[in-house]
Amino acid sequence: MTNKQYSREEYISLINDTLYSFVELTGGEEDMVSNAMLYSLKNGGKRVRPMLVLEFCRACGGDVEAALPLACAIEMIHTYSLIHDDLPCMDDDDFRRGMPSCHKQFGEATALLAGDGLLTLAFSVASSAKLDSSIVVKAVKLLADCAGHLGMIGGQTMDLQHEGQDITLEQLRKTDALKTGRLIRAACVLGCLAADADSEKINAAVAYAENIGLAFQIVDDLLDITSTVEELGKPIGSDKENEKSTYPALLGFERSKEYVDELTQDAVDSLGVFAREGGFLADFAQKLAKRNK
Ligand code: IPE
Ligand code: IPE
Ligand code: MG
Ligand code: MG
Ligand code: MG
Repeated sequence: MTNKQYSREEYISLINDTLYSFVELTGGEEDMVSNAMLYSLKNGGKRVRPMLVLEFCRACGGDVEAALPLACAIEMIHTYSLIHDDLPCMDDDDFRRGMPSCHKQFGEATALLAGDGLLTLAFSVASSAKLDSSIVVKAVKLLADCAGHLGMIGGQTMDLQHEGQDITLEQLRKTDALKTGRLIRAACVLGCLAADADSEKINAAVAYAENIGLAFQIVDDLLDITSTVEELGKPIGSDKENEKSTYPALLGFERSKEYVDELTQDAVDSLGVFAREGGFLADFAQKLAKRNK
């Protein structure tokens, strides 16, 4: 079965409309945190992870609309991770997605709770997916494992521990594979699960995800050096200020750029099993490598 191809713009509007609809305003006092959750969700993220969920689902012959709750759940987890990442006790950044960070707008306590609210809502939303119940259970476990202490949170703790330290390339690779790579990997695999794809496709999705995941963080580190606040929507020079261990700091700027190209090529090469259905994903990997925000 060949599924209709969506454009990136079509995916983004589908994701945004659905995403916002999950955050309910009651008119009561809890709206303080709900408004902070909506504020952070609405501020123009690129929607990379939910798009990967939907496109892997489509490329595997699945029903894109049925995968939407999984796509929204991962974007909620990602947004929560950004709210907490910006807090003064972490990267202490005042801008995010072109607006004051959540804690600058609402105060630290509400930002902390907005992150918690998005993390927990993600599991409610994922479990509401109208997919076979055995698939939903697998998807929820995958989300929890990839977001947790042996996944994204594990990477975030390494990132903080490495501030001001001399670390090896192997330590950095592991940190980035966890803090950024795991959610990207979860997104790609969730799309395959939603389509009940076979293990050959899931393995290809994992290989693609691991390559674009690492490339994605290296580009993020390069943009922290070369971009502007206006373009990026978040502070530049934050990594240097926090003495972060990054690829440009360890390998140098030019070698880091070359490494992004190598990883992107490897990602594209891993898509063979999808044949023509892998075209969007190949193009997406290349666009992510060349992005300027
Ligand atoms: C930023 O992620 C944090 C990293 C994991 C590098 P994105 O670059 O996907 O941020 P948004 O969602 O587009 O704001
Ligand atoms: C963040 O990495 C990864 C997360 C899990 C949030 P960064 O700290 O480099 O992300 P930015 O640059 O603040 O978006
Ligand atoms: Mg950080
Ligand atoms: Mg940060
Ligand atoms: Mg960064």
